[in-house]
Amino acid sequence: MAQQEFTDAIAMLKADHRKVEELFSKFENASGDGRKQQLAEQICNELKIHTMLEEEIFYPALEGKIEEDTLSEAYVEHDGAKVLVNDIMAGGPDDDYYDAKVKVLGEEIEHHVKEEEAPSEGMFSQARDTDVDLVELRDQMLARREELLAQVESGGLPPAQPTVVTPQAA
Ligand SMILES: [Fe+2]
Ligand SMILES: [Fe+2]
Repeated sequence: MAQQEFTDAIAMLKADHRKVEELFSKFENASGDGRKQQLAEQICNELKIHTMLEEEIFYPALEGKIEEDTLSEAYVEHDGAKVLVNDIMAGGPDDDYYDAKVKVLGEEIEHHVKEEEAPSEGMFSQARDTDVDLVELRDQMLARREELLAQVESGGLPPAQPTVVTPQAA
C-alpha cells in the first residue's frame, strides 16, 4: 500500500523534494528537445501537485502553530515558482530562455526546499514540535495526490494559481 511508503507527511514531502531534485539534474544533463520537454513537463506537474498538497493540506494544518513568517514566505515562494511553471508549460524547448527558465526554477526550488528542511529553524522541524497529526496529514495528502494524478492523466492540470501574490495586468 502506498500509505506504508512514507512514515508521515514530512517523509512524503521530503521524498517529493528528492524526486524533483533528481528531475532537475536529469534536465541539466539531457539532450534533445523531446527529452527536455518531457522532463520539464514532469517537473512542472510534480511541482504543481506538491504545492497544492502543501497549500491545501499541510500548510493550513500548521497555521497558528509555527512561526507565521515561515508560512508566509513559503506561500510567496510558491507563487514565485508558479510563474515559471506556467510559462514553461505554455512553451517548449525551441523558445528563447527555455533552459534558463528551467534552471532558475530549479534554483528557486532549491532555496525553498532548504527553508522547509532546515534543521531546527525550518518549517518541517518546527512542524515536528507541534501536536499536528502528521500521519493523518500524510493520508489526506495521499488521497488528494491520487485525485490530482488522475487529473494529469485525463487531460492535465490547469495552470498553477497564485495564492497570495496578485498578478498584474499587462
Ligand atoms: Fe515542499
Ligand atoms: Fe513548499
